[in-house]
Amino acid sequence: MSSKKSVAHTKPRIAMLTSGGDAPGLNAVVRAAVVTGESLGYEMLGIEDGFEGLIGTPRFRILTTTDVRGLLPLGGTVLRTTNKGHFNGPRKEHDPDCPYIAARDNIAAMGLAGLITIGGEGTQTIALELSRLGAPVIGVPKTIDNDLAGTDRTFGFDTALQVATEAIDRLHTTAASHNRVMVLEVMGRHVGWIALHSGIAGGADAILIPEIPFDINKIAEHITKLDQHGQTSSIIVTAEGAFSKGGKPLYGSDGRLGGVGQMVADQVQSLTGKDARCVVLGHIQRGGSPTPYDRILSTRFGAAAVRALHEGITGEMVALSAQDITTVPMIEAVSHLKTIRPHSDLVRTCKGMGVVFGD
Ligand code: F6P
Repeated sequence: MSSKKSVAHTKPRIAMLTSGGDAPGLNAVVRAAVVTGESLGYEMLGIEDGFEGLIGTPRFRILTTTDVRGLLPLGGTVLRTTNKGHFNGPRKEHDPDCPYIAARDNIAAMGLAGLITIGGEGTQTIALELSRLGAPVIGVPKTIDNDLAGTDRTFGFDTALQVATEAIDRLHTTAASHNRVMVLEVMGRHVGWIALHSGIAGGADAILIPEIPFDINKIAEHITKLDQHGQTSSIIVTAEGAFSKGGKPLYGSDGRLGGVGQMVADQVQSLTGKDARCVVLGHIQRGGSPTPYDRILSTRFGAAAVRALHEGITGEMVALSAQDITTVPMIEAVSHLKTIRPHSDLVRTCKGMGVVFGD
């Protein structure tokens, strides 16, 4: 893709940026927005490195239908992304170097009819602030965590679920070969959607999620009971943000969420006497090509974002509501995280099938 700069422009312009942790489907959103925008007579711009590309001299490239050919199955983001950067934290009033004001002024100077902010809860929080400063923004909900409120689903989640489920399928055979307990730690920040869904899809014996603090003794008792009934290996899936009853989420020395998987493996091994190992799936859940579901959802989101701007809607986020794509006020998306309800049918179904959560 060539990095071309525009000089004079006659067509109205819509720009887009990708921000926060990457997720499979980002490029599919870019592709759909560019093709839809071009069909509606817009010049489409891609801002580089997330919101950072709106600081100082704007860094962007013109994107045409030709430029985005081949992006549908491509993981990551061709525009690159930034996690936080200058926008780490709320806007400081009267800050002469306020990045939000700088970005808002650059949006105006670029003559943008709209800015599409593709990202998770952190991204849309920044976008909401820009909207409050008068910038025309529309959000697209992205995260493998699926923790954005206001939408039934975020793109990236289905692909992470696929990766985690395949990992569990693989762990079953090695666990059974060694009569072991295998613990898989998956991403999700402070919600358990990846752990819960992959635990169900992969047939885990125990699922640990932040929404249900766990008692490790109950997990150990369950594994011992399985052992006594002839199931000599078992699978535990834990969200990285899961924590013991009365405890708090674990963070590594680098300050990043994680470590609960190894803690659970060590404690289960000590309590049951069974060999236990931990696998941390990490960024493999974020990489690679999006699933067909995510490609379709990303395409729908990207096209809907352009149509919304074309219809004069700003300050909102496109969202999946049952079968339909709609828009919701950004404040609805960022005011709280979408968490698992402990008494939901998903959890009840698991418990009815003998899966334990440690509560
Ligand atoms: O929010 C997506 C996510 O992958 C989380 O699940 C994870 O905790 C975090 O990003 C990791 O962030 P980073 O890529 O900065 O390590």
